[in-house]
Amino acid sequence: MQNPSISFPHIDQTGALKTLGDWVRFCASQMEHQGCFYGHGFLTPWDEARFLVLRTMKLDWDVPEAALAATVLSVEVDALYQAVQSRCVSKIPTAYLLEEAWFMGEPFKVTPQVLIPRSPIAELVAARFAPWLMHEPANILDLCTGSGCLGVAMARVFPTTAIDVSDLSHEALSIATENISDKELGMQIQVYQGDLFAGLDEKKYDLIVSNPPYVDQDDIDDMPEEFHHEPRMGLAAGKDGLDLVHKMMAQAASFLTDGGWLVCEVGNSAVAMMDAYPQLEMIWPEFEHGGHGVFIVSAVELQKLQN
Ligand SMILES: C[S@@+](CC[C@H](N)C(=O)[O-])C[C@H]1O[C@@H](n2cnc3c(N)ncnc32)[C@H](O)[C@@H]1O
Repeated sequence: MQNPSISFPHIDQTGALKTLGDWVRFCASQMEHQGCFYGHGFLTPWDEARFLVLRTMKLDWDVPEAALAATVLSVEVDALYQAVQSRCVSKIPTAYLLEEAWFMGEPFKVTPQVLIPRSPIAELVAARFAPWLMHEPANILDLCTGSGCLGVAMARVFPTTAIDVSDLSHEALSIATENISDKELGMQIQVYQGDLFAGLDEKKYDLIVSNPPYVDQDDIDDMPEEFHHEPRMGLAAGKDGLDLVHKMMAQAASFLTDGGWLVCEVGNSAVAMMDAYPQLEMIWPEFEHGGHGVFIVSAVELQKLQN
């Protein structure tokens, strides 16, 4: 929450800031004063401020510490001031200000048409979905792909697997397509547009991975300002957050091979999910690097929903 006693300094009051390090310190302090929320790829204001200042100056975020002693030119001040003000006052997430977010060690283009990548499913991808996936999958579907981050990450981990990514939003898919093409993965990843499985007729996958919209109405009402810059259709999913997931559960078995798995993130809607499917054996893995509310369910279990 914003500290009402500290207004954001006017640009004329920033003359004492001489170095990149001074701007990082100013940005981090203002993020704290103005009540910024750190949930979009950074855990601390210091890390986010460093990234915002260095990337605004077109420098790598991991330059040596000594670079922070470099002087900022007067012609560079305006860009830094605008970036810090937009982050701290308008609460625009850093990833949107820079059109760049990092996921599993590589950068992705992001705009407000796509969610900022942060899914804990990354940990499962890095572990190649062991111990559930027993063999190299022939086909994988990334359903509700947004920026394409999970599809790309899986293409890296399974370089011989055919990967389909799909989303309802044409705007999101244009960003996903750009990311896939920038990474030269167009031969491995096919892009589909449609409502959930629509447009994927007759296809069968060894693995379906999805981070769909799953935020329930109470959480939507309580969200920090930063989340309101993200696309609503990437977040909101009805009263219990499961509007889309229920449809996915009903259809998934038809799109999985017999030994296949569905991996799906539902975040805080996990309790509603467990209440809704007491008859299914669902696995809820724990994450070393944070995050929660991801379930794994087999095709065999999902077939129970079709009887
Ligand atoms: C939570 S975002 C996830 C984006 C990405 N997978 C990630 O992890 O960053 C959910 C995505 O679902 C898409 N979506 C919403 N409703 C959909 C539907 N009915 N069918 C397919 N995709 C949908 C949204 O456009 C959004 O890109």
